[in-house]
Amino acid sequence: MEVIIQPDPQAASLVAARIVARLVGEKPAAVLGLATGSTPIPLYRELVRLHREEALDFSGVRTFNLDEYVGLGPEHPASYSRFLYDHLLDEINIAPHRVHFADGLAADIPSFCGAYEAAIRRAGGIDLQVLGLGTDGHIGFNEPTSSLASRTRIKSLTRATRDANRRFFDNPEDVPHHVITMGVGTILDSRACLLLAFGREKAEAIRAVVEGPVTAMVPGSALQLHQHVYILVDEAAASALERHEYYRWVYANKPAWQQYG
Ligand code: F6R
Repeated sequence: MEVIIQPDPQAASLVAARIVARLVGEKPAAVLGLATGSTPIPLYRELVRLHREEALDFSGVRTFNLDEYVGLGPEHPASYSRFLYDHLLDEINIAPHRVHFADGLAADIPSFCGAYEAAIRRAGGIDLQVLGLGTDGHIGFNEPTSSLASRTRIKSLTRATRDANRRFFDNPEDVPHHVITMGVGTILDSRACLLLAFGREKAEAIRAVVEGPVTAMVPGSALQLHQHVYILVDEAAASALERHEYYRWVYANKPAWQQYG
């Protein structure tokens, strides 16, 4: 794991955007896995800026979103597909047929999930998966005790995650109980993962993901089994890391061509 500690979320998001931009520059047909939630918003804002002001070209890129609420379609203001259109996809040059969403309105969810996995495979696999982190260590909506081998499927949200996501809904009771999410195994199949976490409330989860045991109780800890993971955190989210000095030293001593900042 490459742990990159930055002073604040904005600085970390600029580094994350450079990692994405470098990939898209080197591989114009890159396949991106995209997360939603509050955390990646500054990353997407910077990607939009890079597109507008520095001509970052997304015309060959394909995207797959990580998860979606069951029962919400792209017209719903709190759906994750709406979120991605608003924060990124409507603002860059990517054709609609290159954008893939978990379909919260699918009539046959198990068949849809199988087809989604097949579509990822047909696209050649995900080159870079953007991830946020739940305070309980979830990635995607793989809640604690999710199988570390899981594939795209329907999951029930924990009460804590439903509570955390109430802020996106007018009526808190409207937060769906079920979601479709890529599995931990699906995420581990991507060629690289970029996990972002900001704020003191994510510090314990980051410590567990980076320095704890690999356990289904902290699904993000499965990333320790992946050979190419960037962990981008601000000082607050890094505050519980025991070996933070080592991570800082490693990043500061990288050769310039390997740095993203
Ligand atoms: C969102 C997702 C979730 C969030 C996580 C953190 O697509 O898969 O795992 O990344 O719940 O959410 P925020 O960023 O809102 O704190």
